[in-house]
Amino acid sequence: MGSLMPNVVVVVAAVAAAVLAVHVAGVSCWAPPGPNITTDYNGRWLPARATWYGQPTGAGPDDNGGACGIKDVNLPPYAAMTSCGNLPLFKDGKGCGSCYEIKCKVPECSIQPVRVFITDMNYGPVAPYYFDLSGTAFGSMAKPGLNDQLRRRGIIDLDFRRVPCKYVAGQRIVFHVEEGSNPFYLAVLVKFVAVDGSIVQMDLKDQASPEWQPMRHSWGAVWRSDTPRPLKGPFSIRLTSESGKTLVATDVIPEKWQPNTVYNSNIQF
Ligand SMILES: *[C@@H]1O[C@H](CO)[C@@H](O)[C@H](O)[C@H]1NC(C)=O
Repeated sequence: MGSLMPNVVVVVAAVAAAVLAVHVAGVSCWAPPGPNITTDYNGRWLPARATWYGQPTGAGPDDNGGACGIKDVNLPPYAAMTSCGNLPLFKDGKGCGSCYEIKCKVPECSIQPVRVFITDMNYGPVAPYYFDLSGTAFGSMAKPGLNDQLRRRGIIDLDFRRVPCKYVAGQRIVFHVEEGSNPFYLAVLVKFVAVDGSIVQMDLKDQASPEWQPMRHSWGAVWRSDTPRPLKGPFSIRLTSESGKTLVATDVIPEKWQPNTVYNSNIQF
């Protein structure tokens, strides 16, 4: 008896601490993030938890943006099938644009998986893998007519797996020169990247430089070059995808480029 008591006390204290952690986090469980999801596309399903945010049939944020910096995610090709990822999914922005199949398990759920794009972040410690989905994406996992009923559950378990991103035939990678860019500061957002979806390195070559210069990851899907020597267009951009493939968009940004402007490339993975 005498030796049992301290163990009981320890267990009680541990349970109390766990209950307190749940209370402080304001969620129904607490978990550190799982290992980063990679591009091995092994097809295996992993468990996650999911919530939803924004309007019930919206794209997540009310401004149709998100922490990747991609705008109009309510429109095709994203079409509101979007999600926040926690760290192993969003990867501080390097997971932006990556694609997942998800399927839930409560009675309202269809057995048919749906596809979502990571376009926003939520590092809430809800589960090792956590999707905070747009209302549209969350509801779309339901059987026909049960979208609202499924959304009323608020938080659910689901299974997910990384899948190659697919776009309509002919969709090429698109660059957006961000607001505030100038000859000494060039910020470029990349989107519509097929297969891996996400970019882990971007390099720049301006008219005056014979060599590729690495750009720095700025935030979300935005990469930047800061330079004391004014950059002179046209600019070529070299992309490295998460699985290590590279592609070059030669002279994709013209000599007379403008900030806050979209430039279409003729490249795609
Ligand atoms: C997971 O991704 C984050 C964000 O890119 C990175 O900082 C971290 O080092 C990665 N972890 C591992 C184990 O690769």
